[in-house]
Amino acid sequence: MELYRIKGGKPLCGTVNISGAKNAALPILAATILTDETITLENVPKVNDTNIMVETLLNLGASVEYIDDNTLKINTSTVKKYSVDNPSIKKIRASYYFAGALLGRYKQARVPLPGGCNIGGRGLDMHEKGFEALGATVDITESEIVVDATKTGLYGTKMYMDKVSVGATINIMLAAVLTPGKTVIEGAAKEPHVVDVANFINGIGGHITGAGTDKIRINGVPALHGGTYAVIPDQIEAGTFMMAAAITHGDIVVDNVIPTHLDSISSKLKEIGCKIIESDENVRVIGPEGRLKRTQVKTLPYPGFPTDMQPQISVALGLADGCSTVVESIFDNRFMYVNELKKMGCNIVVDECTTAYIEGVEYYQGANITSPDLRAGAALVLAALSANGQSEIDGIEYIERGYENFDKKLRLLGADIEKISRE
Ligand code: UD1
Repeated sequence: MELYRIKGGKPLCGTVNISGAKNAALPILAATILTDETITLENVPKVNDTNIMVETLLNLGASVEYIDDNTLKINTSTVKKYSVDNPSIKKIRASYYFAGALLGRYKQARVPLPGGCNIGGRGLDMHEKGFEALGATVDITESEIVVDATKTGLYGTKMYMDKVSVGATINIMLAAVLTPGKTVIEGAAKEPHVVDVANFINGIGGHITGAGTDKIRINGVPALHGGTYAVIPDQIEAGTFMMAAAITHGDIVVDNVIPTHLDSISSKLKEIGCKIIESDENVRVIGPEGRLKRTQVKTLPYPGFPTDMQPQISVALGLADGCSTVVESIFDNRFMYVNELKKMGCNIVVDECTTAYIEGVEYYQGANITSPDLRAGAALVLAALSANGQSEIDGIEYIERGYENFDKKLRLLGADIEKISRE
């Protein structure tokens, strides 16, 4: 078992280079199934989730070559099966993208039910509704998703999403790209990674318009070609390092980002007393000399404040002067880290699993804690970096699902963090 041992109390300062976006890379890796020609993908973060997607492509019969840690050359023309049986795929949420991609390309797919972080009910009804609207039969059993349109084929259609879902929006795009006719998704998610998937697909010959708005139109094309594409920078990794500057009263240049993707995070950081300096490709966050200020936060779909940044800002508000509230409106069980944070002295109470009331304390105390999920794990690391004394954090396999070289990047900013193995 590996864990992080952290000695807190040092302000983090310097420049951190942000990796490619995990949540864009995962569907783009699945989308390579949509073409027989070779795709070169750049800026793919080397994290456990992308490793599992690559393993799964290999398992399906594709060829994948690593040019370097972050550049992959992929050819899926040799895919010969439509059933995903890589056991590791059950660990991640993005497994469902193989359903959309295989359905779009081969009109059939059998994929284990998605895993991923336990942050509340994570339904699949929007995915089901979308695939069915395109003409597929969908059978969601206790263990897998089976989609089939081999007899009828798929056809373009118009659909209304009852809930804003990143995963369903992307999955329907994947299934519709090669589908004859026009597909319209009303109520689509607008997250930067939805736009990135559309840009990738358009770059290899697809015809998607409106990504980034709530109405996406997909004109089916008969085939896609090959090409080279660089994944966008990771909004949430960037936001996590921005929050690290606030929490440790540091001064961090978060480099290789798209600052507009970070607007809702920058705006909250300003509200709580940080100075933000933006340029074309980076955002500098300077934490205040004194205490952070209190505020209110509500997570919302993009361009609102991201649910994937909720634990990190809650950790910051735990150190703010006064009482803050944080409302989680996307997932119904996203405060699993609260008991761990309390062990560090945080004064936080959660009501109905959706609202946290936080009375800020002056400092956290080092403690031995467990990471319950990916983003909460990163947030607990930030708490430990600011704390008096030493902390040990286990469950770091969650964190490493989504943050590339997290401990190394933090060390480069001056953090006292080491990864140690324990029997
Ligand atoms: C993706 C991200 C995750 C992020 C989330 C919201 C990936 C791999 N994961 O997750 O990091 O926190 O977007 O930005 O990209 N819902 C349904 N039925 C559905 C689909 C969704 O009820 O068919 C609900 C979910 O339970 C949740 C909400 O809608 O309450 C949003 O889910 P969704 O946007 O689909 O999140 P994911 O794609 O799972």
